[in-house]
Amino acid sequence: MTQATAPSGVAAEQAIVAKGSLTVIDNRTGKRYELPVEQGTVRAMDLRQIGVSADDFGLMSYDPAFMNTASCKSRITFIDGERGILRYRGYPIEELAEGSNYLEVAYLILSGELPTKPQYDEWVDQITHHTMVHENVKDLMMGFRYDAHPMGMLTSTVAALSTFYPEAKEIHDPLARHQQIYRLIAKIPTLAAYAYRHSKGLPYVYPDNELSYTGNFLQMMFRMGELEYEVNPTLERALDVLFILHADHEQNCSTSAMRGVGSSHPDPYIAASAAIGALYGPLHGGANEQVLRMLRDIGSRDRVPAFVKEVKESGGEVKLMGFGHRVYKNYDPRAKVIKEMADRVFEVTGRNPLLDIALELERIALQDEYFTKRKLYPNVDFYSGLMYQAMSFPVDMFPVLFAIGRMSGWLAQWEEMLQDKEQKIARPRQTYLGEDRRDFVPMNDRS
Ligand code: CMC
Repeated sequence: MTQATAPSGVAAEQAIVAKGSLTVIDNRTGKRYELPVEQGTVRAMDLRQIGVSADDFGLMSYDPAFMNTASCKSRITFIDGERGILRYRGYPIEELAEGSNYLEVAYLILSGELPTKPQYDEWVDQITHHTMVHENVKDLMMGFRYDAHPMGMLTSTVAALSTFYPEAKEIHDPLARHQQIYRLIAKIPTLAAYAYRHSKGLPYVYPDNELSYTGNFLQMMFRMGELEYEVNPTLERALDVLFILHADHEQNCSTSAMRGVGSSHPDPYIAASAAIGALYGPLHGGANEQVLRMLRDIGSRDRVPAFVKEVKESGGEVKLMGFGHRVYKNYDPRAKVIKEMADRVFEVTGRNPLLDIALELERIALQDEYFTKRKLYPNVDFYSGLMYQAMSFPVDMFPVLFAIGRMSGWLAQWEEMLQDKEQKIARPRQTYLGEDRRDFVPMNDRS
């Protein structure tokens, strides 16, 4: 930043203005400043020199919930929320959902390019051969209560993996980093399936390396006494596409947790565990679970108008779960893909009776000024739960499925953060509004 009143800065100022800048006049002092504008942003640190006196800390930007603050430069995911566009590394989500598979997309997200055949084979081989977890992890999982929520189990066991791989601390060594990336992507379905089996009191099923990533997950979840578990190809494909749709979504709450925790340089198991914790909340990845509970509570199509009325009159307290998004102000493109896929899944599983309630909710909400004025459209969680339920996943496994798909995105964002020379430990500022200095009063003297 240059202060325009300084004569020595005239040339620099002209250069900045030529490139694009923002002129700020501080009405407290009458001083004028030129702030460079780069990729549609001004640097918050450039505000620091705007002050009223020499000992003034300087101006900060105030942005609770990061409504308008870019925390990083990223090359992974592009979203245009107004137009409902989502691309991974430049490829439209619809094309990836149509023509790719989850492991290929994970490779793309992590490396920046679609793999060649040899690269793909090597990648799949690495993931396939890291699917097992240490037997002590099993013992650890056995210690959870029979009704433990699988997200609690997942966040704890992913953190526990940190203790099994001490070399994971070598986060600046690309080889060590990639080893943990293989492990995390490979092991998260195993941990997820174990969490489910635990809640059912069923024996844990070991990975089957002959199956695809998603096929193996399904057999670890649902295999009973059969010698060979037959994966239904339609359901396998549908779940694989759901993993693709969830693989990354730029700087959302859990990804920010991954980057924020990762910025103090713990190993990626610890950072991923924090990300899973962030995802668990009902406003984020826990929303798919809440959508199902909401649809069940509504109970029938004819009760939809009364529910919509309740949402509108609640002053923001009752939400239409699965609607609205911080970034999308249009139909979430992921919800569109899921809706189109639903018929194929229901042909195999039978139609989910809650679908009619969901369709009616969408129809009524999209005609209602309350929702249209606020640009509230169905998001990814609105229809995903109906598919998961039809595939026999219990409701509390829904956010776990989200976490499996999102692992590749978290890891890509974590690596990008570590390699970004501008990044440091994440440490937001605050505006302090508390008490001024006070003298300590011993307990007996307090009234
Ligand atoms: N139902 C009813 N009203 C809503 C909803 C909703 N689902 N979402 C937002 N609003 C209202 C909100 O009350 C506010 O109204 P007003 O202007 O009168 O105060 C207005 O719309 C703007 O909402 P906001 O809370 O300021 O928006 P946000 O960007 O902070 O929140 C959100 C985004 C996703 C947290 C929110 O839309 C929400 O809670 N949706 C339901 C939960 C959900 O489906 N979450 C999944 C998000 S997609 C997957 C993921 O990223 O995990």
